[in-house]
Amino acid sequence: MTKAIVASGLTKHFGDVKALNGIDLEVEQGTVVGLLGPNGSGKTTTVRILSTLLKADSGSATVGGIDVASHPDDVRKVIGLTGQYAAVDNYLTGRENLELFGRLFHLSKSEAKVRAAELLERFDLEDAADRGIKGYSGGMRRRLDLAASLIGNPSVLFLDEPTTGLDPRSRQGMWDVIEGLVAEGTTVLLTTQYLEEADQLASRIVVLDHGSVIAQGTSDELKNQVGGDRIELIVTHSEDLARAEETLKPLASGATVVEEAIRKVLAPVSGGSRAIVDAVRRLDEANIDIADIALRRPTLDDVFLSLTGHVAEDAEVGPKKPGRRGGRGGKK
Ligand SMILES: Nc1ncnc2c1ncn2[C@@H]1O[C@H](COP(=O)(O)OP(=O)(O)OP(=O)(O)O)[C@@H](O)[C@H]1O
Ligand SMILES: [Mg+2]
Repeated sequence: MTKAIVASGLTKHFGDVKALNGIDLEVEQGTVVGLLGPNGSGKTTTVRILSTLLKADSGSATVGGIDVASHPDDVRKVIGLTGQYAAVDNYLTGRENLELFGRLFHLSKSEAKVRAAELLERFDLEDAADRGIKGYSGGMRRRLDLAASLIGNPSVLFLDEPTTGLDPRSRQGMWDVIEGLVAEGTTVLLTTQYLEEADQLASRIVVLDHGSVIAQGTSDELKNQVGGDRIELIVTHSEDLARAEETLKPLASGATVVEEAIRKVLAPVSGGSRAIVDAVRRLDEANIDIADIALRRPTLDDVFLSLTGHVAEDAEVGPKKPGRRGGRGGKK
């Protein structure tokens, strides 16, 4: 497969702040790669360098095989960018905004009109097309933003936090649109703080923390890195705990853990749902009463926690709080 995006050793300082510490990245053509990381980890800086808005201090990158530093104008012809903050003009209507973007893309007036109408239809914005976008909801603005970035039919699309601030329905709508674009062959690099979003959309995930890549792989590979599936058993009587652990040991693919206070036994297993059937049978034969038993797959939250020792901040809890990473929030 051909690589749509290749970056190697990208670094970037802002004054004393080392925003990027040597980022390597590859995105196969026609796939979605998710750049996942907490506030200030370097996601936007990476996207800005790859989309030619910013020059790296060192390292190199190509997009569509074109070098971003030496041929930025050629790169711009093949990419689309939806920035983290809306790029559309508040005082124009949705249609006017798209036509303006079309003209910026050197379409003729009539071509720009046709393209704008197509995109308004595709993004379900026809009814609102001739209203000023001041009155658009957050979800409508994000859709208009994405529509604007598609004016030039880009083969590589950069989406910087495409769904931050959207409600679950609008988020699902945005995911559907992105999946549609990928089905048509578009390559997408998207940044997100939502582990769930990376899980849903991205075929590969690159995890950033403090300007470095700390892990990458498919969602499953990352989860397996944390230790695969595990059985979580809660026994009814605490005196059964030790026997329960002994009973599960033959099934476990690694060390078992007992949490006495909550009468819980954790056993890593590799057999998936077969393992849990087997466990229930053995516990039953040993006359151990089960209060609760479940097979749990690690989530990307577990991955993040085990990789970084901290949870992905603000990942699922609404608006971002600037300045949480003491002194690293210079931009906001
Ligand atoms: N123009 C700038 N001037 C000074 N510092 C900057 C600038 N842009 C980014 N930074 C700093 O570089 C670091 C990385 O920022 P970046 O915006 O790439 O992070 P991010 O992962 O996109 O974060 P967020 O999730 O908040 O969008 C941060 O410490 C940020 O404060
Ligand atoms: Mg950002």
